[in-house]
Amino acid sequence: PVRVVVLASGTGSLLQSLIAAAVGDYPARIVAVGVDRDCAAVAHAESADIPAFRVALREYPDRDAWDRALTAAVDAHQPDLIVSAGFMKILGPEFMGRFGGRIINTHPALLPSFPGAHAVPDALAYGVKVTGSTVHLVDSGVDTGPVLAQEPVVVLEDDDESSLHERIKTVERRLLVDVIAAVATRGVVSDGRKAVIPSDRT
Ligand code: GAR
Repeated sequence: PVRVVVLASGTGSLLQSLIAAAVGDYPARIVAVGVDRDCAAVAHAESADIPAFRVALREYPDRDAWDRALTAAVDAHQPDLIVSAGFMKILGPEFMGRFGGRIINTHPALLPSFPGAHAVPDALAYGVKVTGSTVHLVDSGVDTGPVLAQEPVVVLEDDDESSLHERIKTVERRLLVDVIAAVATRGVVSDGRKAVIPSDRT
């Protein structure tokens, strides 16, 4: 199976659904989990016997040193794919140079709307009636890489940030599991701007 390192910063519910899916016939395995802070994702990894490592920005003299340390820590697990599942740091140039084209991110909005770390409150504040989930390849910009999959989520009149985010995450978990399986099996063809997962011909 394809070797996946998952990066996370938060409650790790997306990580948890990937861990649960990545067994049996699933074409990928989570070989390590990396975090940039103490967070629940570490406990999810440990309870599944998956090694976890922490590379915290504040423990390094600058962003470049952190970027090099994170790259080395991920590289040690020889991943085929990196999945950013709620990782709240922008990946650096060293990381992109080493793993570019093999990094997949999930974002809780329909990109290019509402990029960045506050996608759900931003969508609510704007007053959109539909938002959703985007799974995309990571490039050197912030949430600008080629889209692999998207799915809409309707905003309800009485939604607050937590109710809306929870409905989006329900979609994200499924979309991410499906996209990772498809990429692990069939790869990605990208011309830089656009990316497609070749269709399943069986
Ligand atoms: C997910 O909604 C993910 O898309 C988002 O963080 C959440 C993580 O949930 N990521 C971003 O906003 C990245 N800009 P989890 O910790 O429950 O897996």
